[in-house]
Amino acid sequence: MSERTVRQTGDEILRKQSKDVSELTDRLKELISDMKDTMKIHGGCGLAAVQVGVLKKIIICAPEEDKDPVVLINPEIISVSDETEEDSEGCLSVDGYRGKVVRPKNIVVKAKDENMNDMEFDAEGFFARIICHEVDHLNGVLYTDKVVPGTLEDINKENNEVEAEE
Ligand code: NI
Repeated sequence: MSERTVRQTGDEILRKQSKDVSELTDRLKELISDMKDTMKIHGGCGLAAVQVGVLKKIIICAPEEDKDPVVLINPEIISVSDETEEDSEGCLSVDGYRGKVVRPKNIVVKAKDENMNDMEFDAEGFFARIICHEVDHLNGVLYTDKVVPGTLEDINKENNEVEAEE
């Protein structure tokens, strides 16, 4: 397992635009492997390369905990449903917080897979939400920028309060 440091909010790299990947070099393959390890260690369900300090359009998404994450290179959301859903999100770069975000219920995604083959697919619900969140990272956007006002909560504070009550 090879863990990389997860950049935290306030680090200006998180606000930068990631660049297209033209060739999957050994270095990028190693990056993807390290991203998978890092996400697993932190118990996340998605991670963008910028979160470990690399401004490349690479994201990994794990909508199902027990399955290998989906790797998307140069992902683009080419269409979104009018129907939206509001649900809770967290981010490994915004440690200790969760908040509600409105996202499209269904999206169509164009990307390259881990072998740089083109693909296009539909995603819905939680999977669509993760992809939207990670693609935002590639554009320097954090979920806290679009959180439903008043819903951002400090998870640690809540835990401390629970402990204090016991
Ligand atoms: Ni995130």
